[in-house]
Amino acid sequence: MFRTLLKSVREYKLSSILCPIFMVGEAVMEIIIPFLMTFIVHELENLADPAIGTVNSGNIVLYSVLMIVCGVFAMVCGIYGGKLGAKASCGFAHNLREDMYNNLQTYSFANIDNYSTASLITRITTDVTNVQMAYQMCIRMLVRAPVLFISAIIMTVMIEPFMALVFGGAAVVLSIVIAVCMYKVVPYFRTMFKKYDGLNAVVQEDLTGIRVVKSYVREDREISKMRHAAGELYTYSVKAERILTVLMPMTTLVMFIVNICILTIGSNMYVGNIAGNVTPSQIQTLIQYSAQILSGIMMVAMCLNYITLSKGSMDRICEVLNERTTLPKPVDPVFEVADGSIDFNDVDFCYTQKSELMVLKDIKLHIASGETVGIIGATGSGKSSLVSLIPRLYDVAQGSVKVGGVDVRNYELNVLRDKVAMVLQKNVLFSGTIAENLRWGDENATDEDIRLAAKQACADEFIDNLPGGYDYDLGQGGVNVSGGQKQRLCIARALLKKPKIIIFDDSTSAVDTKTDAKIRAALKAYAPDMTKIIIAQRIASVQDADKIIVLDEGRIDAIGTHEELLKSNAIYSEIYLSQIKGGEENE
Ligand SMILES: Nc1ncnc2c1ncn2[C@@H]1O[C@H](COP(=O)(O)OP(=O)(O)O)[C@@H](O)[C@H]1O
Ligand SMILES: [Mg+2]
Repeated sequence: MFRTLLKSVREYKLSSILCPIFMVGEAVMEIIIPFLMTFIVHELENLADPAIGTVNSGNIVLYSVLMIVCGVFAMVCGIYGGKLGAKASCGFAHNLREDMYNNLQTYSFANIDNYSTASLITRITTDVTNVQMAYQMCIRMLVRAPVLFISAIIMTVMIEPFMALVFGGAAVVLSIVIAVCMYKVVPYFRTMFKKYDGLNAVVQEDLTGIRVVKSYVREDREISKMRHAAGELYTYSVKAERILTVLMPMTTLVMFIVNICILTIGSNMYVGNIAGNVTPSQIQTLIQYSAQILSGIMMVAMCLNYITLSKGSMDRICEVLNERTTLPKPVDPVFEVADGSIDFNDVDFCYTQKSELMVLKDIKLHIASGETVGIIGATGSGKSSLVSLIPRLYDVAQGSVKVGGVDVRNYELNVLRDKVAMVLQKNVLFSGTIAENLRWGDENATDEDIRLAAKQACADEFIDNLPGGYDYDLGQGGVNVSGGQKQRLCIARALLKKPKIIIFDDSTSAVDTKTDAKIRAALKAYAPDMTKIIIAQRIASVQDADKIIVLDEGRIDAIGTHEELLKSNAIYSEIYLSQIKGGEENE
């Protein structure tokens, strides 16, 4: 796991190595400075001592200068260490996000089905931030703290070995206190991160569905859902923080006790009550070391804490990084789609590995290049699933799908998808102008191309009436055009790709019947060679197709022209009759 993550450090390796070195430099200076101070205080003691009564001012100046030099060095190390640490950890997070995002783009539809949007967003944002914090803590503290701790102990041994024992005892006590706190707090933090996910999911779902929420007047329910999610997060955060707040006062208490011990033992040594050899100036230095030793322990504990806490985040990031596309690349890819013919050879298909959930069964089908094919069937009969196999959004379970005489699995995926345009049932536009959105179909399209495509999709009339025309800014996701207008823009966008096969998955459901017919007529006139597959609810949308496929529970029930099916197919004629009746009643 660590190896997967650390791959993303890349160009920040140098900063990641230099940072701890600078931090160690700072730690060493912090140990040396109190030591130098001892000498200065010692000189002053000499002055106060009636037996000596003089002071070597040369020495004082020397030690002072040394102390200043060390101080400046510590400062420089601290600043650079901090800077490099920030650079390395931010860069690491940046690379991680980039790597996750790059891998996300390789996901197939089947991969995407494995994750909820909310969880992916949390992974790329909060989880990476957690790992970034842990990383920064580690490169700044994980080397520095032990160095601080060990060198302070060494210096103490040099001054008076017995005092090192006092420190050792204190370190053990403090470690136990910290361990107990961590043991208690980690489960709370784990739950807290899960609650974060829950909160994100609620917010994300509410915001994407805000229109539905409003039209069903469900605001109160949504608010209470949010309050519940936020409330749970609050409860666990408070519990966790409550335990952590104990930690600081406990450390201070331990430190006070240590200081009292040092003072008592030290003064008794000084006056000779107990064996040992310390001067008052050394006692003062030892008190400073006690703070450093204990803070060293605290830092290591914090680092370990951060690592355990972010372990969950690391796992979830690795999952995204290690997910491999379910659409394997062909060994010897084909780069050219010969024509728009389509063949389904005994195709079975399912979304999950479990075979009892077959969505399509025994599909045998030949569509010649340039044909117009209608697909009719109840919702859930597998219409969208059937066409999604043509641009290889999913792979078949059994059999094969061929486009232009070549198995879709043998094409370079981009080439295939370039030539097979699909206007999805749930379609999306992106923020930007109309022209920008249409250019998704072809980046290099001229204004003339765009106008032509819009005309074929019958989108030109309403675009011309919009303020700014093709430069009209669509809101996020195309919120400020109507459903039917959005569908027509999506058709125009697909047409700009100049595909060999175009698939309309219920793409004119929100367009009125007249415009629907106009679009079909335009397609026939402008792109006679293009294979057109039309999934529709309305018989009118498919009745002049070369052939119509009737799907029923994942099987092909019948294939034929409108007239043939009317005569021979029960499902088709039933749909037809129900629509005719509906139409008559409306008139
Ligand atoms: N992404 C998916 N994951 C799992 N099952 C799915 C998915 N999409 C559709 N299905 C299932 O496949 C079946 C056929 O769906 P679909 O092809 O969308 O039908 P249609 O387009 O005819 O309404 C349905 O039972 C549906 O529940
Ligand atoms: Mg569908």
